[in-house]
Amino acid sequence: MKTRTHRCGELRKAHIGQAVTVCGWVDVKRDRGGVVFILLRDVSGKVQLTFTEQHNKALVDQTREARHEYVISAMGKVTERDAENRTDKLATGEVEIMVESFEVLNTAVTPAIEVRDDLKCDPELRLKNRFIDLRRRPMQAMLQARAALVGAARRTLEAEGFLDIETPILYKRTPEGARDFIVPSRAHQGQFYALPQSPQLFKQLCMISGLDRYYQIARCFRDEDKRADRQPEFTQIDLEMSFPTRDDVMELFEKVVVAVVNALQSDARLQDMDWPVLKAGKLRTPFERMDYETAMRDYSIDRPDLRSRDLRLTDLTRWARTCSFNAFKGTAEKDGLVKGLRCPGMAESFSTGQLKNLERDAKGMGATGLANLKVSAAGLEGGIAKFIPEAEQKAMIAAFGAQPGDLLLICAHEKHKIVHAVMHNMRVLIAEKLGLSDPAKFAITWVVDFPLFEYREEDEKLFASHHPFTLPQNAARVHEMAEISRKGREPHPVARMLHGGVKLEEILALRNNQYDLVCNGVEIAGGSIRMHRTDWQADVFELIGITKEEASKKFGFLMSALDHGAPPHGGIASGVDRLLMLLLGLDNIADVIAFPKSASGRDLMIDTPNEVEPALLKELAIEVAAVKRT
Ligand code: AMO
Repeated sequence: MKTRTHRCGELRKAHIGQAVTVCGWVDVKRDRGGVVFILLRDVSGKVQLTFTEQHNKALVDQTREARHEYVISAMGKVTERDAENRTDKLATGEVEIMVESFEVLNTAVTPAIEVRDDLKCDPELRLKNRFIDLRRRPMQAMLQARAALVGAARRTLEAEGFLDIETPILYKRTPEGARDFIVPSRAHQGQFYALPQSPQLFKQLCMISGLDRYYQIARCFRDEDKRADRQPEFTQIDLEMSFPTRDDVMELFEKVVVAVVNALQSDARLQDMDWPVLKAGKLRTPFERMDYETAMRDYSIDRPDLRSRDLRLTDLTRWARTCSFNAFKGTAEKDGLVKGLRCPGMAESFSTGQLKNLERDAKGMGATGLANLKVSAAGLEGGIAKFIPEAEQKAMIAAFGAQPGDLLLICAHEKHKIVHAVMHNMRVLIAEKLGLSDPAKFAITWVVDFPLFEYREEDEKLFASHHPFTLPQNAARVHEMAEISRKGREPHPVARMLHGGVKLEEILALRNNQYDLVCNGVEIAGGSIRMHRTDWQADVFELIGITKEEASKKFGFLMSALDHGAPPHGGIASGVDRLLMLLLGLDNIADVIAFPKSASGRDLMIDTPNEVEPALLKELAIEVAAVKRT
């Protein structure tokens, strides 16, 4: 094999006259009788190899050996293409290589999927043949963008004094929200490691070790229900710093995001792509900040899509309390929520059937209904308008700030969660219909001041909204509540606190020091200032029902470390995959990962998970119960 002198996609007019050797895959071969063209492809692009009988007949005959996806090397002279052969579809479209010799380096069977940029086929077939799928330009460009993203994050963090520290993959079960993947130990039969859901506690330990600034491009493992934006293993840009204020972490992370976007926008390899990030302008800092309460009030979600920021929801609960429409009134009286969306100028945008479908969608989310009203100069029209007297109609129109020609969608339910889910979904749909969801517009905001706890009514349990290591905003009040809980005799901390005179509303009104970074409705990063004192940590554990014994069994190492002079610290982690999806305008996370799992969590190419030999199971002292395979 001759030494390669150039990559295929590099050749330009400036190379005319040079003898070059290129290597790659036969992308397309065309025989024009006496002249054979081979489009040769490598990671940098494609170049045309030209063989003419006039020049060398034996060589033209030899091209029969070179078939689709064969690997060849070719030596020849770069020449200018004839005017009629020139193309601006290829970066190398002005030149061709007049081949003097070539060699087939390897043959190839016919691939199961085509190597073409606009391939449309069963996603599972692509995953099964991933090594072929990754030959396609969009996939290679995605991997180049991914590497550029990670490289920019690394450079920024290193310049800010962060140290890249690897943390263990064989870890321990901790409560971080999702289910753990567990790994059996042979040396300690009957005992298991867990794969980390994130390096959260290790990065805190790094701060306690005095390392000051940690970062890692970290692999995380979460056994969650599958969704288009989730993978069981994914990657975080993960960092932690000592002695920071909340603002310090947020400002630092803004630098990372700006560097990442700049890196992609200025990467010469990527400019042929049609990605939102390449069409968007430069990002401006500081990013906007919104508190959780405002996000929920205006958008019914803690990750609002601010491309449609003016499409705000209206809380009608107060209006409903005194209204004549019983369904709304009843909901308001039972401390439920009544919320509506003003769809500007859309009174005639939906047919009766389509409005019924919207209501069916809402019912699918648990709602009892979704009222729709049209605003006219005379007042309200449609379904429930007849139950609402004129004065109440006027008050409602004023609450919405509505105009004739608007459509109003209203949902009422005792469970606030249901109303939020329905209204968020309606907002997304209406924004889409109004053309307010341009993927090339990045509307970024921090969301701050989250509730410290979420409450699960079924078992009266509190959960940490972010994770249980996040510093409350009012640690002193949390301590008082924990003391009340410690003294109580009821089975659950919430019951003990209620018995001790604490109101549930007060518990739920507690706020934490979390910050989430949201872009176009996607949470691309989340972090918090942590508790650096054992007593504070013990208080939060108490309130979420982790007993002292449990805490020392599961988190003994953390509690002990916090006792050894832990500095105030905080950090953040960003999902690389989600960030990249957003920047490239892709809606499936598998499209930004080289070797992802399928929707059912399998690697279809290497075919895993799979059974292991009985002898191995015996070594691990594991017996597999009879399982049904689907
Ligand atoms: P959190 O759990 O919010 O925080 O995760 C941080 C970011 O990781 C991404 N992410 C995921 N991406 C793909 N697939 C998944 N299954 C998945 N789950 C999460 C999201 C999210 O914003 N240790 C804390 C961070 C901290 O407090 O510093 C943590 O992991 O983009």
